[in-house]
Amino acid sequence: MIDRTRLARLLDRERGLFRERNPRSAAAYEQARGHLFGGVPMTWMNKTAAGFPLYLAEAHGARVTDLDGHEYVDLCLGDTGAMAGHSPQATVEAVADRFGRRGGATVMMPTEDAAWVGAELGRRFGLPYWSFSLTATDANRWAIRLARAITGRPKILVNSYCYHGSVDEVLIVVGPDGRQESREGNVGAPVDPAVTSRVVEFNDLPALERELAYGDVAAVLMEPALTNIGIVLPEPGYLEGVRELTRRYGSLLINDETHTFSAGPGGCTKAWNLRPDIVTIGKAVGGGIPSGGYGLSAEVAARIEAMDGLDLVDMGGVGGTLAGNPLSVAAMRATLEHVLTDDAFSAMTELATRFAKGVQEIIDAHGLPWSVTQLGARAEYRFTSPAPRDGGESNAAGDPELDDYLHVHLANRGVLLTPFHNMALMSPATTEADVDRHHEVFAAAVAELVA
Ligand SMILES: Cc1ncc(COP(=O)(O)O)c(C=O)c1O
Repeated sequence: MIDRTRLARLLDRERGLFRERNPRSAAAYEQARGHLFGGVPMTWMNKTAAGFPLYLAEAHGARVTDLDGHEYVDLCLGDTGAMAGHSPQATVEAVADRFGRRGGATVMMPTEDAAWVGAELGRRFGLPYWSFSLTATDANRWAIRLARAITGRPKILVNSYCYHGSVDEVLIVVGPDGRQESREGNVGAPVDPAVTSRVVEFNDLPALERELAYGDVAAVLMEPALTNIGIVLPEPGYLEGVRELTRRYGSLLINDETHTFSAGPGGCTKAWNLRPDIVTIGKAVGGGIPSGGYGLSAEVAARIEAMDGLDLVDMGGVGGTLAGNPLSVAAMRATLEHVLTDDAFSAMTELATRFAKGVQEIIDAHGLPWSVTQLGARAEYRFTSPAPRDGGESNAAGDPELDDYLHVHLANRGVLLTPFHNMALMSPATTEADVDRHHEVFAAAVAELVA
């Protein structure tokens, strides 16, 4: 349906416009190239549709302003890190109070906020015992270690084209011939991931049972809906089947709610009444201040506590010096208590529904074979229809050139999407007008493409 010559021409035009509009960002990038590896503070910031990144000047609520003075409707929201909106007032005040007035970001002493956050995460996700990290990656790493310790089993099972951070065990996919293989581009894998992991497609219960039956899987680590290869929703009965099979074969179930937190105040776990053994989370939970953690069921906590010889307090492989620090837990408390509240999620979900509906109307108006999928406060479009049912299918439907065109076209007209996705996320500060602005620009971008 897409004329590739036309697409290439339009992308070229948009990249030219981007360069013209953003001389200060371009200059800052040029200057940084002499000092930063890859020219960016973190190498993933080179994931940019336009050739260089926009530099940040300011960010408030659902708006971002770049170095050249353009204001954007920010539907990227730090790829979920800023789902609470940028610098939400309550979090800013709690952070200023802790760090500025009372002091003590890193003291190796607990504060009372931590237990409050544990209780609140327990209310939301249904797991009573929490421990904190500064990233979701670390929460996953430590949860994996605990699962191995408890079960005495070596392997972690994940879904193909999942993402759970830079965790060695998860960089594995189901290859074209059905064999398990290292994910393309896996940087410096310590061992072939087939040694540490098993992988199956999402929504495939027979494959899951086949792999669990080997009896060597410590834990299934999964998102209740995939969110890092577009959004892939579970089919009816799938998650119940996962829980039943993991119990039957003695594997723990870890729900990574870092992105699926968008489904509601207690993520998919609460929204869909799931019963994982462990939940991991990061990103948005601290309102932008590095924060994360894992929650354990009473049974898992008791099993760990009953084990002799685990070094949980020093160098045994679980923990970080700054994890659970007073600043991070103060930020989590304020964010959960005042910003990402039950009411906020209702409004955010309504906006995402408006987003998905509007995008679907534009897709339908042009008869395009595309789809849009919503998960609470998040929605994403994918260039295939019906929406993919697993990671492999969704990966195959990728169209990087089309992604780039839409991303640069939108950025040139004041709308930001996540560089890694065609994802739009709603924050408590996002408005209907913001969503409508996206639709106006998206409709124009699509109309030019198919004209
Ligand atoms: C589901 C999921 N888990 C974990 C992570 C890792 O988060 P971080 O990079 O903040 O450690 C991500 C990042 O995108 C994610 O999407």
